[in-house]
Amino acid sequence: MDQSVSTKANSSILEVWGGTPLQGKVNISGAKNSALVLMAGALLCSEPCRLRNVPSLADIQGMAKILKALGVKIKQDNDVLELDPTHITTTDAPYELVSKLRASFFAIGPLLARMGVAKVPLPGGCAIGARPVEIHVRGLKQLGAEVYIEHGVVHAYASKLKGAKIYLDYPSVGATETLMMAATLAEGETVLDNAAQEPEVADLANFCISMGAKITGAGTKTITISGVPKLHSTDYNIVPDRIEAGTFLMAGAITHSDILLSPVVPDHLTAVIAKLRSIGFQLTPDAQQGLRIQSKGVHTGTEIETLPYPGFPTDMQSIFMALLTLSEGNSVVTETVFENRLGHVPELVRMGADIRVKGNIAVIHGVPFLSGAPVTGTDLRATAALVVAALAAKGKTSIEGLQHLDRGYSDFEQKLRGLGARIERVPAPNA
Ligand code: EPU
Repeated sequence: MDQSVSTKANSSILEVWGGTPLQGKVNISGAKNSALVLMAGALLCSEPCRLRNVPSLADIQGMAKILKALGVKIKQDNDVLELDPTHITTTDAPYELVSKLRASFFAIGPLLARMGVAKVPLPGGCAIGARPVEIHVRGLKQLGAEVYIEHGVVHAYASKLKGAKIYLDYPSVGATETLMMAATLAEGETVLDNAAQEPEVADLANFCISMGAKITGAGTKTITISGVPKLHSTDYNIVPDRIEAGTFLMAGAITHSDILLSPVVPDHLTAVIAKLRSIGFQLTPDAQQGLRIQSKGVHTGTEIETLPYPGFPTDMQSIFMALLTLSEGNSVVTETVFENRLGHVPELVRMGADIRVKGNIAVIHGVPFLSGAPVTGTDLRATAALVVAALAAKGKTSIEGLQHLDRGYSDFEQKLRGLGARIERVPAPNA
């Protein structure tokens, strides 16, 4: 992450005065988790590439720094990124940059495939879990690479990767993306079985296909990649961010508002839309890539279990839980994807929520109201959940942890203000 951005975010808080209904239309940015991996994917190409609809985020700046350190020339004009990876000057990714942004580990697959060597520090864990990379490493070995870890750095070598049939023990998004990128320039055919089916995986495949890669089946459990000798220039538009869209759906739902989100791909939000409908909200796709949410009054509790796509997304768990704190009746939320993703619970409890946690399960008894309080976000989606809860709480909520929020939401408070929310970023009292 850009250090100056991070320091500024650390010394600011968000003040939210809850209880104002929202109205109007909100623009959804390009998907963070597509943009990050597509930027790394550009390393596969020996010619300049253009990415459009790139969200304005601290994580994107972080990935740009890493690519620049590897020799990629980057120009940014609003949401358009021009990447020129023609001359890679080093295959060693710098620790101080990689340790700040896990997604930078994505560089390993493309660097290895194109340059025959990659040295990328292990990204380490983060607030939501240990986040190991052994599935990535095992897959690269199956593609014929020599891979070992020394002094905290993953070293990978292969004069030419060779296509292989690879079964992933778990449909890891990052491992699927790493192996798909590596296989695009391998000799022969690679089949990834039990692959992740997330829309960002399909977006990466489409980006690679637009550069001349031969990939079929992305978005299903089995992806087939026929290696090609090189990839060519492209101009590619990133898909809308389904988690940002889901976050605004929750903002609309918790304030019982009528709002329109656009652009959205409703098929990317099937599990979230189904849950919202089942607890009492009306969701209507419109012809212009829009999605409208309307409240029908009371909403009820439900059961949610996070799962790999197309199951309920772990990235929406905390944010949906904010809504369930005000549902009529009881709810049960089970987090199965990350081992430590309930950091928002004590903070929601500070706001008056009734939640008990046992292991990875949270039991929520709906309460009639939340009340504003000082709270701290522990990770990106936990912080977003606190903002959503604050929109409905009585009085003022002060939210710390904005360095997390700025990693993943572009112009968040401006977009919320555009819908009528009372939300301000102010210096922290003791900054
Ligand atoms: N896992 C392993 N071994 C591996 C790889 C993964 O055990 O080699 C485990 C992880 O520890 C985790 C589970 O598998 O418990 C899922 O991890 P996955 O690899 O699928 O996730 P990721 O690629 O690290 C991406 C997103 C996350 C999102 C997850 C799941 C990016 C940059 N990040 O992470 O996004 O939660 O997929 O959908 O694409 C976020 O945006 O807030 C975020 C955390």
